[in-house]
Amino acid sequence: MFKKLFIVAIILINGLFSQSLPKKSEFDSSWRNPSKRPDHILINFSDDPATTVSVTWRTSREINKGFGEIAVAKADPKFVLKSDRFIAKTSNLRYSNVVNHYKNSKKSFNTLNHNYHSVTFTGLEPNTTYAYRVGDGKHWSEWIHFTTAHRTNEPFSFLYVGDAQNYIYDLWSRLIRESYKKAPNASFIIHAGDLIDDAHNEEEWHEWFAAGGWIHRSLPSLAVPGNHEYRPLYQKDITSRKRTLSIQWQHQFTLPNNGLDELLETHYFLDYQGVRFIGLNSNVNVKEQTEWLETVLKNNPHKWVVVFLHHPIYSASTERDNPERRNLLKPLFDKYGVDIVLQGHDHSYARGSASLYEQNILSGTNVQDATGTVYVVSVSGSKQYEAKPNWDQYDAVRDKAGEDKQLFQVISVDGNTLSYKSYTAIGDLFDSFDLIKNENGINSLRNN
Ligand SMILES: [Fe+2]
Repeated sequence: MFKKLFIVAIILINGLFSQSLPKKSEFDSSWRNPSKRPDHILINFSDDPATTVSVTWRTSREINKGFGEIAVAKADPKFVLKSDRFIAKTSNLRYSNVVNHYKNSKKSFNTLNHNYHSVTFTGLEPNTTYAYRVGDGKHWSEWIHFTTAHRTNEPFSFLYVGDAQNYIYDLWSRLIRESYKKAPNASFIIHAGDLIDDAHNEEEWHEWFAAGGWIHRSLPSLAVPGNHEYRPLYQKDITSRKRTLSIQWQHQFTLPNNGLDELLETHYFLDYQGVRFIGLNSNVNVKEQTEWLETVLKNNPHKWVVVFLHHPIYSASTERDNPERRNLLKPLFDKYGVDIVLQGHDHSYARGSASLYEQNILSGTNVQDATGTVYVVSVSGSKQYEAKPNWDQYDAVRDKAGEDKQLFQVISVDGNTLSYKSYTAIGDLFDSFDLIKNENGINSLRNN
């Protein structure tokens, strides 16, 4: 009898452990230390994407100046002789005793002292492929291609991913690379927060850069911070529960500077070929952002509006909900007809919409006629939570749910149609729909 119970117990324990991933890879601690050569190179849109692009990189403290060189890319490699040089802004990131949040019991602290460089290339021609490189005049990156936006509302695609966050080098790498293979012509990528787990941890940022490799320097990123980009900075902050934005954030991103001063580069808007993209910082000062948000929505000249933020308006996973954020933001999304809201945080997948009219809901599914804002929650990293059984508690209808899947999304806009596709880490189609806008600006949703 006892022997049988023992065997059952062993089977159950093994079952439990088989659900967990093995220990994360050990990385060389030198990953936190840059050299004289540029690394962590990241391309961002910071202003009009038809004429302007910014690039940021990291070096050791010894390199106290930076340049970006740029030329129209040609097949003939002598294009490099026609490059223009721009001077970068250099900033020093210097901290001691930064607490390693998840290794606190081991009293692990980080000391950082290195430089970031940020260059903004301006006066570029629309719809033109350029090559750029960055460095200090002696130590240079390779020449890297990117293409400016059209002046007109040409069709385009972009990528969107939820939380990378855990096992970034081990397991997010395959996801980001598969997404680039699926949409090599995507114009940019949206990261909806929790890019890493431990906000100030330089080794984790290095994982993020190593996982994405040259994709990060070729495909512009639009990122907003998640709760994991807000973590205690010093030991004393753990007890006082003080959380600070990742000390790397404003050094390593050069994002549009059109939000509130106190939330610099953590919320902003950007217009791309007929679409207004609005990134929100859902961690702090959400109420203060609503007035800004209303102005940005009210003065939007474009047909489409895409909002991205970390915390979901309608949660995807069990025992999670954000009613304060929903109460502040959803009325504005409704009032100004936001088309789609892209989110993370919940480590599962959900897609649904707030219906405009009750008669559109039949048996818990939206039937085609008039769809309100579509809400998506997705996760790109390895941490996975259980999906909510339904959205019965909400005034919205969930059309698709999923769990235990690393996912990325390819979203295309062409005139009156926004096409959405969600793919798994192995490139299989997981979810798909079209939003079709009529002449009155009302969307209908077609599940594909
Ligand atoms: Fe989160």
